[in-house]
Amino acid sequence: MPVPPEVVDAARGAARVVVVTGAGMSAESGVATFRDEQTGLWARYDAEDLASVEAWERDAPFVWAWYVSRFASLAVVEPNAGHRAVAAWAGLSGVSRVDVVTQNIDDLHERGGSDEVVHLHGSATAFRCESCDAPWPGTVAAPDVPVARIEPPTCPVCGARVRPGVVWFGEPLPTDAWDRAVDLVSAADLVLVVGTSGLVFPAAGLPAVGRAGGAVVVEINPVETETSDVADHRWRETAAVALPALVSALRTAR
Ligand code: OAD
Repeated sequence: MPVPPEVVDAARGAARVVVVTGAGMSAESGVATFRDEQTGLWARYDAEDLASVEAWERDAPFVWAWYVSRFASLAVVEPNAGHRAVAAWAGLSGVSRVDVVTQNIDDLHERGGSDEVVHLHGSATAFRCESCDAPWPGTVAAPDVPVARIEPPTCPVCGARVRPGVVWFGEPLPTDAWDRAVDLVSAADLVLVVGTSGLVFPAAGLPAVGRAGGAVVVEINPVETETSDVADHRWRETAAVALPALVSALRTAR
């Protein structure tokens, strides 16, 4: 796979790299994106019925059952070559760090070998109390036969319901994660934006923050997105093809 020379040039001198990822990063692991026609999650489900506080208040067992099944499906997929390439990049000479800032709730970057992963929209493996915010250390498993409703567990501290540790529409991002993401892209030499439509803010604003801080911004995505205009270079390729090719090119270019 030939790598565009301008992308190799931009990446070659970068000591501090931040890879900003969205659902397209995990697509080749078999995880549906949100907005792609036919396969996108929001094409098959009404987001308002599932990913909002209002939906939770209206019908928590329905929302919980959907997330339990989604989390179970995320637990059995594997990191793809793109996740592994991002982790391997950190080991190249001349690279001081490669951080990952993701909108994804899966743990494929971690399982692919990346050390620090900032999860802007929460995590499929973190649960907390809806009332007192206490973390819930339990695990969930999908029932053998899918059911429409499952009662959420209750918090051992206060007895309220346990909720998924994900960010729902209308909710703020976790402050620690957002602050860390802004710090990382502001100090980056290269911000690589992979597999996001760039439609959901504030995450979609990170490439511009990086650029304002002096980073070169490169987009990897098969199609044009809302982020394309902010990028210095656009590479129309998929994550699992482009990232290993880029890291391989960097090995020989250094
Ligand atoms: P989207 O579904 O909006 O966009 C996925 C992007 O991935 C699109 O631009 C695709 O072209 C691209 N894509 C598809 N396959 C790809 C591949 N193999 N390699 C590279 N790119 C590929 O997903 P996000 O931008 O992540 O938020 O969505 C952002 C947020 O919207 C999500 O985190 C979620 C959702 O509502 C919350 O749930 C809070």
